[in-house]
Amino acid sequence: MSARFDYSTAPPAYVWLNGKLVPWAEATVPVTAMGASGGLAVFEGVKAYWNPAEEQLYIVRLDAHLKRLYDSMKIVRMVPSYRPEELAAAALDMLRANQIREDTYLRPVAFYDGVKLPSFRYTVGAAPDICLSAMAFHTHLLQHKAKACAVSSWTRLSDNQSPPRVKVMSNYQNNRLAFTEAFVDGYDDAILLDERGKVTEATGACLFMVRDGVVVTPSISHGILESVTRDTVIRLCRDVLGLTVQEREVDRTELYVCEEVFLSGTGEEVTAVTSVDRLPVADGQPGPVFLAVERLYHDLVRGLDRRYPEWRTPVYEPTS
Ligand SMILES: Cc1ncc(COP(=O)(O)O)c(C=O)c1O
Repeated sequence: MSARFDYSTAPPAYVWLNGKLVPWAEATVPVTAMGASGGLAVFEGVKAYWNPAEEQLYIVRLDAHLKRLYDSMKIVRMVPSYRPEELAAAALDMLRANQIREDTYLRPVAFYDGVKLPSFRYTVGAAPDICLSAMAFHTHLLQHKAKACAVSSWTRLSDNQSPPRVKVMSNYQNNRLAFTEAFVDGYDDAILLDERGKVTEATGACLFMVRDGVVVTPSISHGILESVTRDTVIRLCRDVLGLTVQEREVDRTELYVCEEVFLSGTGEEVTAVTSVDRLPVADGQPGPVFLAVERLYHDLVRGLDRRYPEWRTPVYEPTS
């Protein structure tokens, strides 16, 4: 059994909290707020990759992540006090204040602090607190990372219970139950089915398979987070690799007989799935579509491949 991500535990010197850069140690939440705010937080996970030759830090698809943060807030009826452009500028300020020059995970969180009366009534239409923080991470891109996955006995949440397209903290107990079950059973990750038995996604990433040469992924109304990286991978497969991509229902047993399975997500980056329920996927090695996507994704997010400049927000002024 291995840890999923090798994040550094060092906190940033500064976080951005409600309009100000605040030293990390001073950005605290009252202890009485924690219980009340536990589930009442929506968030994003965004990555920024360091390009040593350019001495540049590129934030990957910041606009798309902020769009999803605002969509999440709208669905849970939070009314933010800041516009997306202000949070984009705040993200740059925070990364610059920390003088970050390494691969970094950026986490915007909008939450109710719960200091006021912990009643739902007081949260309806109220402005959340917003915090932007960052921590270093170690990429596994180009290492052909592979996972053994189990199909979970837990069922994925559905839109009318607790909508998976909202990136709300409380949804993640569903993912955690599935992950924990798989992990204690000796797998690296779990794949969740919906209440109709159709494949949704893994516990922190979307799922792709290659079947008869076609790239297939569950559609956005099949119990998945509307993933930014999924969109990136679809566009790379279609537009750069010239492959056919279908967004459709996927059966569990299709995962047993297809040519490739792989996962994609901001935290996950791209990871091959080389077995499902202990059945090898094809020959049990990362496949050619995965390897091509991994190379493209690595080169694009780090700014080595100059295509799709709109996907990269540079943090620093160019040095030349
Ligand atoms: C449950 C879940 N699905 C999919 C993803 C991938 O989303 P994105 O590519 O926007 O990071 C994530 C987050 O990374 C997630 O938590």
